[in-house]
Amino acid sequence: MSEIANNINVLSEKQSEYMQLIAEIMEIRKRGEKPLAYIRTYGCQQNVADSEKIKGMLAQSGFDFTDKPDDADFILYNTCAVREHAEDRVFGNVGALKNIKRKHPQILIALCGCMMEQEHIANKIYKSFPFVGLVFGTHSLHHFPELMYNSLVNGKRIFERGNDDNMLYEGFPVKRDGIFKGWLPIMYGCNNFCTYCIVPYVRGRERSRRPDIILQEAKQMVQSGYKDITLLGQNVNSYGKKLDENVNFSELLRRIDAIDGDYWLRFMTSHPRDCSKELIDTIADGTHISKHLHLPFQSGSDRILKAMNRHYDRKKYLEIVNYAKEKIDGVSLTSDIIVGFPGETYEDFKETLSLIREVEFTSLFTFIYSPRVGTPAAEMDDPIPAEEKSKWFRELLDVQEEIAAKRCASMVGTTEKVLIEGKTGKNDELNGRTSGNIIVELKAPEEMIGTFQNVKITNARNWILKGELENNGG
Ligand code: SAH
Ligand code: SF4
Ligand code: F3S
Repeated sequence: MSEIANNINVLSEKQSEYMQLIAEIMEIRKRGEKPLAYIRTYGCQQNVADSEKIKGMLAQSGFDFTDKPDDADFILYNTCAVREHAEDRVFGNVGALKNIKRKHPQILIALCGCMMEQEHIANKIYKSFPFVGLVFGTHSLHHFPELMYNSLVNGKRIFERGNDDNMLYEGFPVKRDGIFKGWLPIMYGCNNFCTYCIVPYVRGRERSRRPDIILQEAKQMVQSGYKDITLLGQNVNSYGKKLDENVNFSELLRRIDAIDGDYWLRFMTSHPRDCSKELIDTIADGTHISKHLHLPFQSGSDRILKAMNRHYDRKKYLEIVNYAKEKIDGVSLTSDIIVGFPGETYEDFKETLSLIREVEFTSLFTFIYSPRVGTPAAEMDDPIPAEEKSKWFRELLDVQEEIAAKRCASMVGTTEKVLIEGKTGKNDELNGRTSGNIIVELKAPEEMIGTFQNVKITNARNWILKGELENNGG
């Protein structure tokens, strides 16, 4: 493994050799004309980006991809541990693979991702799902070819969880799912330890990629036609800590924004604790940076924010948001919210409602608190019954629906630049997104998918806009 900086390694020659060996084995083991892989990804964009690396390594090992597990020689689920529901879905779907393995015993079934970094989960898989041959966590991506090769040749079950928290690997072949929308990880891991959250335990400590490597990748993406590039990290605002070069997130954004081309630059997720005025000024002054800020506040109650270990209060949050509204014309704000954190009362919850009324978010990702093994919140008293939390949750959705509808209605009559993304499935309708990440549905020819168009907003339905192509002169 060759080192290019303190804790940065490049994917080793050895892994390329393993990919070559896998290709040779699969020539013999494949069931169809070409070896086929079925990859299913759960969870957030970090997982999507990891799957794109795995697909890159599989493509280099001679694989094509299928969306039918029944046809595959290799099946992989990249899993998410953030809430119980996410884990339950994985368990249910893994169970269903038993029949496929029975029908085709030579296929290799593998599980990876955040869930697999948890010991109790790996143990459960080991005992309950004997047909799963390979299990590896988020820390093992850099030697996935070696793990896969070993499973294929010795037929023994391989279970691996990582411990090299400080390592960062470069040089993965990446096979992106999209051709005009793409993810670009700028950092991995998280140091925040919000008391409810499993992510720091399963993704390790925060590590920032070198700015020149990110810039190079962004340039390649723009040159190969990406129109919507999202920089990824659990807390992008703390980008750059421990790097040799002194580059913070705002500086990184400015450097990427300076790349010529017709594209939008997005990022997620911003933590309010480290969200600076400099960042908001950078968005306001940017050429390609979309006018959208996803800034999860989680709760409107200072007491709950403290118990969550979020390191900001309602006042600080509103200060940032108001500064963003003042500086960024038409800024679109979105957020994540947890309802029913241990010890939360209806009074606390009402503070959340009043905050969303005050800010008027474009859209919200709302979650009912889910206890995660090993996190401090899972040990806290949680006296509110589930039905009560569901009632609060529905109340939150109702209030947000009203706000989103009002916000969308206020856009009727305006003209928006829209990136056309795909078909809605209804008639010949297409859908796209504004710079603020609001969905727009419109009638347009299919050839426009993947292009920017000016769209006149004619109608609004809850959080979805309707529009028509403006006469662009061709
Ligand atoms: N790093 C991002 C969020 C990553 S997880 C941030 O700090 O904003 C995405 C969202 O899942 C979180 O914002 C939170 O709202 C939610 N979440 C995380 N753990 C949860 C839990 N135990 N129960 C319910 N929701 C949770
Ligand atoms: Fe989880 Fe908090 Fe880190 Fe986000 S910042 S990933 S919510 S610990
Ligand atoms: Fe899930 Fe892991 Fe993302 S736990 S939300 S896939 S970082």
